Amino acid sequence: MTGTRDDGPAPEPYDATPFLPARGGLPAHRRAAADCRGCPLHRYAGGTVFGRGAAHARLMLVGEQPGDQEDREGEPFVGPAGRLLSRALREAGLAEEELYLTNAVKHFKFTEEETRKRRIHKAPSLRETLACRPWLMAELRLVSPELIVTLGATAGRALLGPSFRVGSDRGVPRPLPEPEEGVGDGMRVLATVHPSAVLRAKDRDGMYEGLVADLKAAAAAL
Ligand code: URA
Ligand code: SF4
Repeated sequence: MTGTRDDGPAPEPYDATPFLPARGGLPAHRRAAADCRGCPLHRYAGGTVFGRGAAHARLMLVGEQPGDQEDREGEPFVGPAGRLLSRALREAGLAEEELYLTNAVKHFKFTEEETRKRRIHKAPSLRETLACRPWLMAELRLVSPELIVTLGATAGRALLGPSFRVGSDRGVPRPLPEPEEGVGDGMRVLATVHPSAVLRAKDRDGMYEGLVADLKAAAAAL
């Protein structure tokens, strides 16, 4: 691939596939993802935020997309939602250094709030989520976890289908539907809420307890 990140519209259809390396492990994929232009989000955010953690983790956590702080630091789950997630993982008895953490979408999507110069998180569209899915599939193939925990609706839709809703079927491991060639055979998925939703909730304590309970169910399913 030649060119820079400013050279015009993303190719149609939105799809990260042409940017995936033909071979190599997580480091090669992380390097290639830095140049992804599979959807328009690369034009507005600081950089691609690839997954982090244990290369052969038994448990992979999938969030929505990097937030403001993740975009600045280039690592997933290092901001307020990440801190809440770390606390919940500890309470559930899961050692963070043994896990792999990533996002369904690898670029931060936001709107600028002109007056306060703040960048406000904006949920990725289904089209952007599906465009970015090949990176997530590559991570699943390379890490090959036994269990995936999806955090919130975007990750759930990426792995359980577009009609997924967090309210239904959370906290229960089930087979990954439609495993693709070389990816997903025998893997299970457990859905739960997103840590950012806990931060925004009126009943923050109740929702946090629900997150911890689901993470405990994930730990028990390993
Ligand atoms: N929210 C996410 O879904 N992922 C992050 O990395 C940070 C916040
Ligand atoms: Fe590529 Fe995903 Fe970033 Fe879109 S969001 S440019 S598909 S890495």
